[in-house]
Amino acid sequence: MGQRLHDPDYLRAEQYRTDANLAAREDLHRHFSTNEYGWFRWVFDHLDVPDGSRVLELGSGVGDLWLENRDRVPRSWEVTLSDFSPGMLDAARDRLGDAAPRFTFRVVDAQAIPADAAAFDAVIANHMLYHIPDRPRALREVRRVLRPGGRFFAATNGRRHLWQLEELVRACTPGAKRENAAAAFGLENGAEQLQPWFAKVERDDYSDGLAVTEVEPLVAYVQSTAVRDVLDPARVDRIRRAVAERIGRSGAFHVTKALGLFNCVVGE
Ligand SMILES: C[S@@+](CC[C@H](N)C(=O)[O-])C[C@H]1O[C@@H](n2cnc3c(N)ncnc32)[C@H](O)[C@@H]1O
Repeated sequence: MGQRLHDPDYLRAEQYRTDANLAAREDLHRHFSTNEYGWFRWVFDHLDVPDGSRVLELGSGVGDLWLENRDRVPRSWEVTLSDFSPGMLDAARDRLGDAAPRFTFRVVDAQAIPADAAAFDAVIANHMLYHIPDRPRALREVRRVLRPGGRFFAATNGRRHLWQLEELVRACTPGAKRENAAAAFGLENGAEQLQPWFAKVERDDYSDGLAVTEVEPLVAYVQSTAVRDVLDPARVDRIRRAVAERIGRSGAFHVTKALGLFNCVVGE
C-alpha cells in the first residue's frame, strides 16, 4: 500500500476514477456526524470573496461544496470546478443537475494549472493538497494564478482525525502499513508549508465527531480506502464484528474528527 496517498496513477485510475469511494466516505459523514451544521456549509461561510470574483476549486471531487451551497453561491461569481480525474468531474456535473450550467468544469492537475498569471481572485483546495507529490510546485501555481490580494482556502485534517477507526483497522489488519494524510499536509504542519507563499495564513477549526450507530456504513468506509488492498473476507469480518461489539457495548461507535481550513492572503 506504501505511497498510495500521493501516487497519481493509483489516485486517478483507481481511488478517484469514479465517485464510488468518495461517496461511501461522505455517506458516513453525512449520516453520523455530531455537528449538524455541516462541513461544506461551514467552509462556504469562511469564503471571504467579493462579488464578481473568479473562483477556482482544485480537486473539487464530486462538487459537494457547490451542491451544498447552491442556494447562496453569488450569481456574480465565475466558478471553475477542476479535478485531475475526469470521472469526478462527470459525477460533479451530474450531481449539480440544473445548477451545473452555472459552473465551468475543467480537468486540471494542481501542479500545472492551465491559466494566466493573476487569472483568479480565489482558489480553493479542499482535502486534496495531501495527495500532491510535489506540493511546493502546486502552491507556486496557486500563487501564480491568484491576483495580488487574492485568497487561497485550503482545508485538511489533523493527525487525530478518525484515530479510533484507524486503531480498530490496525488491530484487524496486522502488518498493514497505514498512511496518515495529515502527516503530508495537515492542520499541524499546513501553516509552515503555506507561509512561504502567502502574506497571511490563518487557521479555523471545525468542531465535529462521529457517533456511528450502524455497522455497514463503517465497513463500507474502510473498504473505500487504500486499506482494502490488504483486506480479505476474514479481515473484513473481524472489522465488522469489532464495530458491532463497540456499538453493542455503548450504543454508538464514537470517533474523533479533526478538520479545519487555512485562509491565506496573497501580498499586494
Ligand atoms: C479527498 S477528495 C476531495 C474532494 C473534494 N474537494 C471534497 O472535499 O469533497 C480529493 C480529490 O482531489 C483530486 N486530486 C488528487 N490529486 C490531484 C491533483 N494533483 N490535481 C488535481 N486534483 C487532484 C482527486 O481526484 C479527488 O477528487
